[in-house]
Amino acid sequence: MTDIIAVVSHKGGTGKTSLVQNLAYELSHQRVLVVDLDPQSNLTIGCGRDPGDLERTVLHAMDTPSETPDLVVPLAHFDLLPANLDLALAEQHFAGHYDRNDKLKDALQPIRDQYDYILIDSPPNLGFFAFNTLTAATRAIVTLQCQPYAYRALNGTLQLVELVRKGNPALHLQAIVLTMYDRRLTLTQSVEHTARNRFGELIPKTVIPSNVSIAEATLHGTPVAVYAPRSTGAVAYCELAKELFNGNQKADG
Ligand SMILES: Nc1ncnc2c1ncn2[C@@H]1O[C@H](COP(=O)(O)OP(=O)(O)OP(=O)(O)O)[C@@H](O)[C@H]1O
Ligand SMILES: [Mg+2]
Repeated sequence: MTDIIAVVSHKGGTGKTSLVQNLAYELSHQRVLVVDLDPQSNLTIGCGRDPGDLERTVLHAMDTPSETPDLVVPLAHFDLLPANLDLALAEQHFAGHYDRNDKLKDALQPIRDQYDYILIDSPPNLGFFAFNTLTAATRAIVTLQCQPYAYRALNGTLQLVELVRKGNPALHLQAIVLTMYDRRLTLTQSVEHTARNRFGELIPKTVIPSNVSIAEATLHGTPVAVYAPRSTGAVAYCELAKELFNGNQKADG
């Protein structure tokens, strides 16, 4: 059965898009699709595609699910259902639809069985995009940057996961991943301590360090494990994939 993983956090810039792209690479010895459900299109850009060149995107798949198979872009390591800025109109476009929160789930229906894993990137949002992402998913992974505002924002994201679970009982909260982690900072250690006390095993032992290679890889349109295989970032995503997917990740990491 296909695992559909929603990466969510309504705090901006917490490493969601980077997590989607790099976990997808770690799982890419299997059949993997990544879905860009963010009008910023950062995942599409990070995968080396120019959103401005795309005439049809995930928005069209949400509108007409029978078209989804034609909209998937094959990449070197996994497939991409891309986005561009037109997606910003989606909330307005689907506003009167009784099933507006099911649009992504319906869009994925024709192709979901072709993949072992589908990872969905969402914008910092507690509305239409987050509902669609979580409604389509079987697992939620929340990113947490070790900063006070981000920690406070966590409550809203977790409440939303619980709310969507009422209509999508298949969804479970798998992990809260600490990202952009800088262990030299007392603040980081203090937020980590508080979060681990509160959430226990929901927080993986592996943290994603603050590492410039991760940002540089984005500029090169590749996963960090391809751009800088020995970087602390690449090693961390590999370890995290082992922890979250029971060793079911790429053998050569
Ligand atoms: N661990 C990291 N260390 C250093 N830079 C990182 C790290 N993770 C992500 N970045 C960089 O920080 C920026 C924000 O990361 P990313 O886009 O993954 O966050 P996001 O949560 O998806 O943001 P948004 O909420 O805007 O969608 C990007 O430029 C990315 O390359
Ligand atoms: Mg993002």
